[in-house]
Amino acid sequence: MNYSVKILTFISLLILSVVLLSDFINSPQTKSQNKTHLSLEPHQAYKQEPITPIPETLNLNIQKVHLGEQLFHDPNLSQDKTLSCANCHDLKKGGADGLPHPNTASLQKSSLPNQTVFNSPTIFNASFNFMQGWEGKTKNLKQQIAIPLFNPFEMGNKNWSKILTYLNQTPHYKQQFQKIYSSPISSEQVVDVISEFEHSLITPNSPFDLYLKGQTSALTHYELDGYNIFKKRGCISCHHGINIGGNLFQKAGIFKPMYPSQEHKPQLFKVPSLRNVALTAPYFHDGSIDTLEEAINLMAEYQLGLELPRDENQKIQAFLKTLTGQYKGQSLSYE
Ligand code: HEC
Ligand code: HEC
Repeated sequence: MNYSVKILTFISLLILSVVLLSDFINSPQTKSQNKTHLSLEPHQAYKQEPITPIPETLNLNIQKVHLGEQLFHDPNLSQDKTLSCANCHDLKKGGADGLPHPNTASLQKSSLPNQTVFNSPTIFNASFNFMQGWEGKTKNLKQQIAIPLFNPFEMGNKNWSKILTYLNQTPHYKQQFQKIYSSPISSEQVVDVISEFEHSLITPNSPFDLYLKGQTSALTHYELDGYNIFKKRGCISCHHGINIGGNLFQKAGIFKPMYPSQEHKPQLFKVPSLRNVALTAPYFHDGSIDTLEEAINLMAEYQLGLELPRDENQKIQAFLKTLTGQYKGQSLSYE
């Protein structure tokens, strides 16, 4: 009896020392493994998330971007020389105009009362949308440019020739075009430089993107809760990808029509991007909704068939506010 206790004690001590020893031998390695694992964790997490960060830089032609920026802000490109792209896509107003409809819309409403008047979407990150416009009227940025230039309710030009004459007669434009292209200024070149500028309008490094890239402290627990609710409740099924939207069409109202008065129309819209959404009120294709709180509640009700508790709505709002990114190294704000 005594003997077997001794043997048992000896065996237990042996096992313990082997365990301790192996722990000691392994400890530096285990620690470093843990470390590698820790530093990999956010990276893996980012890879698995249904939202991906915006790249910090893109390979663009700087001369074209610079020239495109000037054209984007030049009202002389409109028929009556009053309106530039920037009037409705103001970089200081989140890339939109802060209005339900552009100022020019009253003319459209009186001339074509049955036509939907659209809210100006943000121009920031538009290059990441799979199509352009609320109904995806055009496939890409280059095709889209002709719409505002020649729309009688927007910039109202009749044809290209007046625009090209103006550019040819303006020495500083002529010089810049000549530096980039060898041929005389053409509509293709104008479209090319404006779209190159639009491609430069990206907003990386929002707190949420920093979080995706591994900076876990970039979000508070409250904001992270909001993201988890956004996923759990199903918002993510339509708002995902690099633009958190912008990559599919969906009915406005899966559970019931959001716009019963337009019931005869298809009510199919491009799911809007939620990047910088805190700066782009009012919301929806017709600019009918003033606040994020209201927009979120309507989405829950019409798209997901649920009534969202108030605290969940507030947490989602907090998450959406982390989607405000940086332009030229500065956090976007609404001025
Ligand atoms: C009078 C206001 C106004 C002006 C000026 C204007 N836009 Fe727009 N823009 C809008 C509206 C409204 C829409 C939405 C139209 C639609 O969905 O059919 C829009 C849509 C867009 C889109 C699609 C964005 C997206 O996410 O779907 C792009 C890109 C764009 N405009 C670029 C331009 C450029 C470039 C110019 C100048 C050549 C310009 N806009 C001039 C009001 C304007
Ligand atoms: C079935 C697809 C779908 C789901 C699910 C969905 N959305 Fe949307 N979301 C849309 C569409 C489509 C629009 C545009 C509606 C319109 O313009 O009339 C939109 C618009 C929005 C807007 C306004 C953006 C702007 O710039 O005008 C916000 C904010 C928004 N959604 C947030 C959410 C949140 C939060 C949830 C979850 C509670 C959610 N969405 C669920 C499809 C969806």
